[in-house]
Amino acid sequence: MTRNSDAPLVVGLAGFGTVGGGLVRLLQENADIIKRRVGRDIRLKKVLVRTITKARAAQLPPGATLVTDPRSLTDDPEIDVLVELIGGIDHARDLIDRALDQGKHIVTANKALLAEEGLELFHKAARKKRILRYEASVAGAIPVVEALKASLTGNRIQSLMGILNGTSNYILSEMTSNGMEFDVALQQAQRLGYAEADPSLDIDGHDAAHKLILLIRLAYGVHYPYTALSVRGIRGLSAMDIRLAREFGYRIKLIAQVREALGGEKDQVRLEAGVFPALVYHKYLLARVGGVYNAVRVEANAAGALFFHGRGAGDLPTAGAVLGDLLAVARDERPNNTGFADKVLPKACIVPPEEWRSCYYVRVMVQDAPGVLRDLSGCMAAEGISMAQVIQKSGEGQGVPLVFMTHETSARAMRDALQRTMDSGLLKEPAVYLRVLGGE
Ligand SMILES: NC(=O)c1ccc[n+]([C@@H]2O[C@H](COP(=O)([O-])OP(=O)(O)OC[C@H]3O[C@@H](n4cnc5c(N)ncnc54)[C@H](OP(=O)(O)O)[C@@H]3O)[C@@H](O)[C@H]2O)c1
Repeated sequence: MTRNSDAPLVVGLAGFGTVGGGLVRLLQENADIIKRRVGRDIRLKKVLVRTITKARAAQLPPGATLVTDPRSLTDDPEIDVLVELIGGIDHARDLIDRALDQGKHIVTANKALLAEEGLELFHKAARKKRILRYEASVAGAIPVVEALKASLTGNRIQSLMGILNGTSNYILSEMTSNGMEFDVALQQAQRLGYAEADPSLDIDGHDAAHKLILLIRLAYGVHYPYTALSVRGIRGLSAMDIRLAREFGYRIKLIAQVREALGGEKDQVRLEAGVFPALVYHKYLLARVGGVYNAVRVEANAAGALFFHGRGAGDLPTAGAVLGDLLAVARDERPNNTGFADKVLPKACIVPPEEWRSCYYVRVMVQDAPGVLRDLSGCMAAEGISMAQVIQKSGEGQGVPLVFMTHETSARAMRDALQRTMDSGLLKEPAVYLRVLGGE
């Protein structure tokens, strides 16, 4: 491909599902603005699918054909760029691998692939001097990849915190606004098409974790292995905890977070990163992100705090981000694909999760009897934990909730203190405990 060429950029699209269909539509609807912005047309030549006869949400433009043989896409010498929108790992990786071998540029929305096996693909793309763009892979329409890769490179990123999974956020929002139990909210999300039949990737935190791995790479230029990330989802959170959290002035959200931690060796930044449900103070913007929306809050040493909010999924919002990447390819923009000059990204220096420090929300079910609170605070104090606020619900006889917020402590101390309370026979069932972000 020659720079400033005004010949059409020829595209091979793999996948004609939600996002692929959105892209096919947008390429036609926005054809005039595309031409004005890049001075050339973007021509869709082939679309790879599994089933040719399936009904499609968009009509192909004249000249474009459906194919089922991946080689017919990757090995077509006229195609300049492969847009990978089939999802999953193995087929997508084979497709991108082969397309790079054949000299194609790549645009993808595949966070799972890039999180788990992206480094090899980035190396290969760099070796082959090909562009590999992936804006749509994190938070759909929100341009956070480009912000970290280009706009914010004059800053050191101190922390990044996001709501990166729309399905989980929808379920939590419904539980909060309508008092639903988790299972009911999940079934409603599935009925409305916001959750997959198998929702585990979303509700167990893995989808948010894939995106967080990409954000860590973009913000810090390090390799943070997916398997090293601490990941906890929202499965089984109860309406009772959501209600009690509200009484303290908090909303429960599934948070993906990375932040620099103090105490690393010279020149080595230690990172604390994970996905977990947390109580977010209701006045924080993140607490107000509702329904299927996504948001990312970045704290940077020059810019201060930045907040990105928008649609994290859906056909057109995601396709718009894919199309933006295609326009960048059409302009032959060649920033470093990872945003860092290193040929090989160094491994992240990781703070073990048990060392993380945080305030905690704790709910225990106890006997409604005198002295329970004293004994409980004794178990906490033995691990150096002090309580900040306590709510004791009155009840009759068996098992009443006792809820408290702690001052900052380590995850290890919290785990040990709760073990103590179990060992001492104080609790009727294991405690529920969640990290707390922010407060008055
Ligand atoms: N959906 C969103 O809102 C969203 C948002 C951000 C990122 N993404 C990412 O975008 C990618 C696509 O998601 P999607 O929701 O559009 O998926 P989707 O609706 O399930 O569509 C997948 C498409 O890929 C085709 N396909 C799947 N495996 C194939 C294979 N082995 N060979 C040939 N074709 C194959 C399917 O063909 P058939 O139609 O013939 O079955 C289908 O057209 C994923 O990586 C996803 O994580 C999606």
